[in-house]
Amino acid sequence: MAVDSRARKFVSFLLYVALLTLVPNSIASGQTSPPRSDDSIRQSVDALLQKMTLEEKIGQLTQFFSFEAPKDLDSKISRGEVGSMLFVPDPAERNRYQRLAIENSRLKIPLIFGFDVIHGFRTGFPVPIALAASWDPALVTRAQSIAAKEARASGIDWTFAPMLDIARDPRWGRMIEGAGEDPYLGSAIAAAQVRGFQGDYIGAPDHVLACAKHFAGYGAAEGGRDYDASYIPESLLYNLYLPPFHSAVKAGVGSVMAAYMDLNDVPATGNRWLLSEVLRDQWHFNGFVVSDANSVKSLATHGYAKDHADAAQIAFRAGVNMEMALTTNAYNDNLLGLVRSGKITLQQIEDAARPILETKFRLGLFDHPYVDEARAPQILSTPEHRTEARIAAERTAVLLRNEGHLLPLSKTAFKKIAVIGPTADSPHDTVGPWIFREDLQETVTLFAGIRDKLGSQANVAFAPGVQISRIFPSFFDQIFRETKPTPWTPKQTDDEMAKAVNLARSSDLTILVLGELQEMIGEAASRESLDLPGREEELLEKVISTHKPVVMLLMNGRPLNIKWAVQHVPAILDVWYPGTQGGAAVANLLFGDATPAGKIPFTWPRDVGQVPISYAHNRTQAPEDQGKRYWDEESTPLFPFGYGLSYSSFEYSNLRLNRNGLKPGETLDISVDLENTGNVTADEVAQLYIHQQYGSASRPVRELKGFERVSLAPHEKKTLHFALGKDQLVYWNSARKDWVLDSSVFDVWVGTNSDAELHSQFTVTP
Ligand code: NOJ
Repeated sequence: MAVDSRARKFVSFLLYVALLTLVPNSIASGQTSPPRSDDSIRQSVDALLQKMTLEEKIGQLTQFFSFEAPKDLDSKISRGEVGSMLFVPDPAERNRYQRLAIENSRLKIPLIFGFDVIHGFRTGFPVPIALAASWDPALVTRAQSIAAKEARASGIDWTFAPMLDIARDPRWGRMIEGAGEDPYLGSAIAAAQVRGFQGDYIGAPDHVLACAKHFAGYGAAEGGRDYDASYIPESLLYNLYLPPFHSAVKAGVGSVMAAYMDLNDVPATGNRWLLSEVLRDQWHFNGFVVSDANSVKSLATHGYAKDHADAAQIAFRAGVNMEMALTTNAYNDNLLGLVRSGKITLQQIEDAARPILETKFRLGLFDHPYVDEARAPQILSTPEHRTEARIAAERTAVLLRNEGHLLPLSKTAFKKIAVIGPTADSPHDTVGPWIFREDLQETVTLFAGIRDKLGSQANVAFAPGVQISRIFPSFFDQIFRETKPTPWTPKQTDDEMAKAVNLARSSDLTILVLGELQEMIGEAASRESLDLPGREEELLEKVISTHKPVVMLLMNGRPLNIKWAVQHVPAILDVWYPGTQGGAAVANLLFGDATPAGKIPFTWPRDVGQVPISYAHNRTQAPEDQGKRYWDEESTPLFPFGYGLSYSSFEYSNLRLNRNGLKPGETLDISVDLENTGNVTADEVAQLYIHQQYGSASRPVRELKGFERVSLAPHEKKTLHFALGKDQLVYWNSARKDWVLDSSVFDVWVGTNSDAELHSQFTVTP
C-alpha cells in the first residue's frame, strides 16, 4: 500500500521480518540480466504470444493500483489477467503479488511494478524544479540513479518519471514536478533524468524503467487550474511543449504516460495524432504508452467517449498500450468484447502487448521476478545517498538577493539566532511533496541544520510565528497523506506571532523561513494567488520592523509574490523543498561552507497578474514600450529567467565566433572568457541565447541554446565553447508544416542570465 500510516508500516515490518525467515535461498536476488539483443527479445516475445490466450494478452494491457483494486485482484493475477501493479513499495508485498503471477498463472509472465519515484525514494532529493535550477545534468543523473537504486532494491521496476511538462503559469501546482519554462533546459534535464533512472540500457542493474509524462501539454492548463483543458497552437506544441519529450525518446525512455487533459479539444489519452503520429511515426518511439490514473475511463467524463467501452476503444486506437486504473479497468472489462465484435483486431492486441512484454524481458523480470527482501534495508540506508542528497540541495539553491554581502554569515558573529517560520522545523515540508517512503525521523530541518552547524557557538531558537494552511483540502491529500498533519485547521494566534517577533527582537540575527507547505504545491494544488500564504507577509513585515539583520529562506516550488521582501530583506536564498539533508545543506550555504550557484528555471513574475510570463516572448509591436505594457505595473519580471547570484563575482569577456556566416551543415563555435573576479571558489552557469532577427515566422526575443555550469577558483579564468548548428537554429513553422532553417541575421548573447549583454551576430545563408 502507498498509504503511509505508522501502523501499516509496523505491520509491514513484522511481515517483512516473518518473511525473511521463510523465504528460501532459491528466491532470486533481484539482480537483472545483461542486455539481450533486440532480435533475441523479439523471438522470446513471439514465442510467448503464440502461447497466450486473448484474455492473457489483454491482461498485459491492464494495470491496477494496490489500493482501490478490484475485489478479485488476486484471482485475476493468478489467471494471468493483470500485467502490472502500481504503488506496491513494500518488497514483501511485491513478492506476494509476483508469486501469484509466477506460481499460479499458466504462462508465469511476471508483473511489472510501477511507482511514482519523483525526487527520491527513501533518500529525499530536492524537488524536480530545484534539480533543474542546478543547471547540472550530471547531478540530476546521479540523483535519479540513487532514487532508482533504492526503488529497485525495494521491488519497483518502473518509475512514473520524469515529468516533462513545460510550465509558464505558476498558478499550476505541478510546476514543481517539472524543469520550468524552457524547452532547451527542459530537454537537457529530461535526458539527464532518463539516464539516471534507466542507466545505460533498459534493464541495467540497480536501475528502473523511466516514463516520460504527461504527454502532452498538461502544463498549459487554462488559468493554471490543474486538469483543465489546454489550447496550444501547433507552433508552440512543436517548439515549446514537445521538445523535452522528444529528448527523452532520443535518450531511450522506455515508456510514456498519456496526459489527462483535453488538448485542443481532443483528450490527450484519446489523441491519436499525439500518441501515434508524433510519438511513433515521427519520433520512432518503440516502448509502450500507459494512461494516467483513470484517464481512459475519463474520456467518457470529458464528453468525448460515449461510455467506458467506447473510451477503451478510443484510447486503444489512439495508441495507449496499458491502462492505469482504480477499481475498474476499461481495457480489462471491454477489450475482449471489442475484439469479438470486430472493432479491434487480434493483431492490434498483440501489437499493443508486444512492447510491454519486450520491456519485461529487457528488465530481466522473467529471469528474476522477485526482489531480495533482505537487500532493501541495506540499500535504503546507504550513507553516500544522504551525502549526494546534501550536495544536490547545495547545488540547487538560488541566491536571489544579497545586499551588502550579508551572506555568507560568520559562524562566530551572532551569539543569538532566531529561526522563524511555519516550515522551518517541519521535516514533512523539508523533504517535499512527491516522495512516499521518506524517513521523517532522519530528515534534517532547516532549524536543526543551523543549530547543529553552530553547536555551542550560538544560541539558536525556533518559533513558527504563523500557521498556514490550504483553504480547500484536495482529494489527493486525503488519499495519500492520512497520517500527515491535517493542513487545513490552522490555530493561528496573535500570541504566536508576538512570540516570534519578540524572539527576532532579542536576537542578533533572524533567519526567516517563508513559503508554502508542501500540500500547497504539486498535483491538485493550483492557486489563484502567488502571495505568501496566510499571515506570512505580516510576519515578514513585523520581523523586518525589528531592524535586526534578516536572512529570508524561501521554501517553494513556484515563484511567489516577494515584491515587498525584495525591497526590504537584504538576503534572500531560495532553498526550494531541499530533501532529507535539506537543513545540513542550507546551513552550509548560509555559513559559507558551500556557495550558491543555482539559477531560476523560470521567469519570476512580480505578481500573479503578469502570468503567463516568459523571457522567450515574441517582440511584436512597439518593442520600445515592452517594459510598459501595463499602466499599473512594470511588464518586466521581478527576476529574469536564469537569474541567480553568487558569493563571488564573475566577468564575461571576449565573445567571439569562429565565423560570421553559417551555411546548413556547418557548425559555429562560440567562445567566451569567464573569470571568477571574487575571492571564493564558486560555480557559475554560463548561458547562451539567440534571436532570429527576421524570417518566415516571428521568433522569440531570446531563446536559450547553450549552458554550462563551471567551477572557478578565485581569479581563475576559463574559455568556454558553445556549438551552434542547424539543430539549435531550426524551428517548427506552422504555415509550412515543417521544421525550417531561415536565412537571417541572428543575435547571440552569452552571460549570467537571460538579460545577458555581451553580444555578437552571425548570418545564416542557404
Ligand atoms: C496521477 C498523476 O497525474 C501521475 O503523474 C501519477 O504518476 C499517477 N497519478 C500515479 O500516481
